[in-house]
Amino acid sequence: MKALVLAGGSGTRMLPLTHTTAKQLVPVANKPVLYFGLEAIAQAGITEVGVIVGDTADEIREAVGDGSKFGLDITYIPQHKPLGLAHAVVIAREFLGDSDFVMYLGDNFIVGGITDLVENFRRERPDAQILLTRVSDPTVFGVAELDGEGRVVSLEEKPTVPRSDLAIVGVYLFTPAVHEAVRAIRPSLRGELEITHALQWLIDERRDVRSTTVPGYWKDTGNVMDMLEVNRLVLETLELRIEGDVDEESQIIGRVRIEEGSRVRRSRIVGPAVIGRSTVISDSYIGAYTSVAEDCRIEHSEIEFSIMLRGSSIVGVGRVEASMIGRNVTVTPAPAVPHAHRLVLGDHSRVQISS
Ligand code: TTP
Repeated sequence: MKALVLAGGSGTRMLPLTHTTAKQLVPVANKPVLYFGLEAIAQAGITEVGVIVGDTADEIREAVGDGSKFGLDITYIPQHKPLGLAHAVVIAREFLGDSDFVMYLGDNFIVGGITDLVENFRRERPDAQILLTRVSDPTVFGVAELDGEGRVVSLEEKPTVPRSDLAIVGVYLFTPAVHEAVRAIRPSLRGELEITHALQWLIDERRDVRSTTVPGYWKDTGNVMDMLEVNRLVLETLELRIEGDVDEESQIIGRVRIEEGSRVRRSRIVGPAVIGRSTVISDSYIGAYTSVAEDCRIEHSEIEFSIMLRGSSIVGVGRVEASMIGRNVTVTPAPAVPHAHRLVLGDHSRVQISS
């Protein structure tokens, strides 16, 4: 079995708070989301991986290399334009040969990995297997309708009137039957070869398309609360590891990871939290569910349930919560200006002003 990882795309739908244009490299608990996918693939016992790359190919290649650090053997497959998930399958034909494969969207995060799913697929070998998850707003996803036995009877891309609340998750398992399907379909109205159309083609041909419903799923939509939530989920699995230098006046409570070369002075860190390499924390409080990346500086401040990316600093700003701080950001207190109230008050007004 092989894997096809989609890390292409135009990179236009960029998370506003990161400089990276490759959404697959958005960090979760200080690790690019794509790494979690590659690790899940390796864990499932797959080693031959094709990675689809587009405009952001250089960034992806730099981050992933030849795959050896994941125990994978990676072949890069350039896609000149993001012409659809099924298009990626078309251009990967030579790499895939006649193997079964898992197709993994590089900006997706599946809680608990894919090992069981892959094992199950290997045993049962339906023509295709998709993953579904319940969502509150199915209109922004691909949505599946199932029969009583969990077989997929129809699929719809972003339906205005959804037939279920089961959204398609970005991991698909295929036998070579999919190659006939991706060649048979035509581009959709948005000009893409849609994998949902290929799956629908298989269903119409009475092929066996099955589904499994999974509980934990995340996809980068640029939504900060979603990012903080997936960061929280990953931090939940963290184990205590202190490689940095923590002074006697500091207190580390719970599961905290402090990476090499970082320094903690007169501070209190309450886990789960991770502090990246060469970051300096002094006279501060770091609260639960916080990821601070490498080369950051936190002084005389408090930060909790937040993500702070590489090279940023917060100095003397009091408390920061539920925040996402991009790369090379500087947060400092505003210069003290005299407060003044400008008022236009009607007759008989009663105003309370805290001074
Ligand atoms: P998205 O562009 O998010 O595709 P989608 O159809 O799931 O999303 P939406 O309709 O909400 O815009 O891409 C999912 C992943 O696949 C992402 O990592 C980029 C990658 N990709 C490719 O590599 N090639 C492609 O042609 C497309 C469409 C996506």
